[in-house]
Amino acid sequence: MLKPHQAKQAHGDSPNPVLSINQMNLVYNSTRGPITAIRDLTFSIRKGEFVSILGPSGCGKSTLLKIVSGLLRPTSGNVVLADVEVKEPRPDIGIVFQQPTLLPWKTVLENVLVPIRAMRMPVHEYKDRAHDLLRLVGLGDFINHYPYELSGGMQQRVGIARGLIHDPAMLLMDEPFAALDAMSREFMMDELQQIWMTTGKSVLFITHSIPEAVYLSDRVLTLSPRPGRVIDDIKIDLPRVRDVETMGQSMFGEYATHLRALFKSNTAPSTRIA
Ligand SMILES: Nc1ncnc2c1ncn2[C@@H]1O[C@H](COP(=O)(O)OP(=O)(O)O)[C@@H](O)[C@H]1O
Ligand SMILES: [Mg+2]
Repeated sequence: MLKPHQAKQAHGDSPNPVLSINQMNLVYNSTRGPITAIRDLTFSIRKGEFVSILGPSGCGKSTLLKIVSGLLRPTSGNVVLADVEVKEPRPDIGIVFQQPTLLPWKTVLENVLVPIRAMRMPVHEYKDRAHDLLRLVGLGDFINHYPYELSGGMQQRVGIARGLIHDPAMLLMDEPFAALDAMSREFMMDELQQIWMTTGKSVLFITHSIPEAVYLSDRVLTLSPRPGRVIDDIKIDLPRVRDVETMGQSMFGEYATHLRALFKSNTAPSTRIA
């Protein structure tokens, strides 16, 4: 088994990061008093890097994503994307949520173009790109279909194309495959790897699935239970393109065992933060 100290530690503060999170804290003011969701979080992501954030339910993963996307301001500290501090929602970020939330009365093509209309960008200039992205996600034959005609996995692929339509500097994904069945999930992991390799996007991928994180990532950051802070940052040194055989490799198993042990020790009742 790979012990924590044997795991190859990645460099937390990468040179020329596309995204950097600096000593960030987030306290929610709830009716029952203040809730610290994130405490002293610091990490950065290099351009083109695929980084997963792994953490137990309620540790602040979605909160982190909302802050990076500019929907929520941190209580202290800051987030810098492409050299500019994030203070509000920005067009250089693409988001893919757990539920694809497609508009049922719009076709697949129109759904992909929703962010372009919302940002009042010229739709006609993005139609070719929408077609290209839909082909990339394997939906070239479904451009004029409606969401109800698609499976859950296909709908999520529309969500990914929509997240990439405006060519954002960074793609944020919040447990995008959590609602899918096991088979669709594995298929989507391969699809996402392909999309990432083709587009070269920087990706911040949130998950609580250990195999998903190891399979997809260049780096996996593990967060503690709430308030979330980075307790482990490992580089996944598995060659690409990864496929089913990758999952059978001993290194894959060692990474997964290492992360599982970490998860277990940090979510034990004695260490759980109520
Ligand atoms: N708007 C809010 N007001 C008060 N507490 C919140 C709010 N949103 C989230 N929380 C709390 O903050 C913590 C982190 O939530 P969240 O970021 O959704 O976790 P995760 O996505 O990791 O499951 C949880 O304990 C949650 O109950
Ligand atoms: Mg969440």
